[in-house]
Amino acid sequence: MASSICGGNLASVFAPRRLGSCRRLLLKPGEGSLERRRFLVPRASASSSSSSSPSFVETKPPSPPPPPPPESTMDKEKLGSNQTVLACPICYEPLTCTGNMVLSVDSTSGSTLECGTCKKTYVGNETHFDLTAASGTKEYGEPMALSTELFRTPLVSYLYERGWRQSFSVWGGFPGPEKEFELTKGFLRPVLGGNIIDASCGSGLFSRLFAKSGLFSLVIALDYSENMLKQCYEFIQEEENFPKENLALVRADISRLPFASSSIDAVHAGAALHCWPSPSTAVAEISRVLRPGGVFVATTYLLDGPFALFPLLRPLRQNISQISGSHIFLSEDELEDLCRTCGLIGFKYVRNERFVMISASRPR
Ligand SMILES: C[S@@+](CC[C@H](N)C(=O)[O-])C[C@H]1O[C@@H](n2cnc3c(N)ncnc32)[C@H](O)[C@@H]1O
Repeated sequence: MASSICGGNLASVFAPRRLGSCRRLLLKPGEGSLERRRFLVPRASASSSSSSSPSFVETKPPSPPPPPPPESTMDKEKLGSNQTVLACPICYEPLTCTGNMVLSVDSTSGSTLECGTCKKTYVGNETHFDLTAASGTKEYGEPMALSTELFRTPLVSYLYERGWRQSFSVWGGFPGPEKEFELTKGFLRPVLGGNIIDASCGSGLFSRLFAKSGLFSLVIALDYSENMLKQCYEFIQEEENFPKENLALVRADISRLPFASSSIDAVHAGAALHCWPSPSTAVAEISRVLRPGGVFVATTYLLDGPFALFPLLRPLRQNISQISGSHIFLSEDELEDLCRTCGLIGFKYVRNERFVMISASRPR
């Protein structure tokens, strides 16, 4: 059964339908698995302010002691001397790197990763390692769904952090990267200190925050779009004193993650679930790579409330998905069902207008 920490202004939270979707207000102080829970109360009940700003207010309980280090099965000290956390997308066996390379933004260019089992090699370019199954093909090309291909274009990649992402706050109630990052950290508390994949990182706005926070032993910024990864690399190069060690940029398909099973402590996916060609294949793959107790945190938007009354939305949803490659979620229940069917438990969510942040974990 889901736990929710619901937020929203009076209109969006307490409208009859929303009351239905927030029916399980189960998180009370002292309950749940988040060691330091964040309590979100409707802004209208705390202070009166504009409904266009993120409409939940956070109050923080006293800081608990720091969490124990996660039991990552792929902690650096447990890895072989030149083995990385990365695995071959063909056979999922660990990749080894030539020389004594340690994964970092600066060590990618010209480095070679090799699969000891199927012998395929992956050469890093200036910005990232291409760990898609099709990496290295010369004749063969493979267009993906529209929602994936759109973000591969140089123009959309360039515009993404220059207005595109900001628009999510206007139409979708996304609180904005800083606030979303704070909420994410709350959900990730049990796995702080471990490794994290920022899946479908786009231009890396969260990957950079994860790296700068120093809260993770390794951050993998992963996306299918070469141009998004290029943007991410450029933003990193522009920033003075950016901690480039323990951050690697990887091109991969969410449906074929280049990591060994049960090797990852946390997977974060900001504003991406609805862009994936097959959310179930993607969440199943995330479930595969998470270690027992590992945490998945994702944000997306829900077309519920007045949108759900749009008579043709439900029947047309499948056709819209087939054409655009993107998915429209209509309720938290769908997301919970998706996580559960892919082997994840302990579903929780936070709402703000159409924005939803969900979290679920691999059973221990
Ligand atoms: C809306 S952006 C989200 C970027 C960022 N995480 C954020 O929070 O703003 C969606 C991202 O999903 C990526 N994406 C789409 N299909 C993908 C796939 N099959 N595998 C990996 N990433 C994919 C796109 O390239 C794009 O960067």
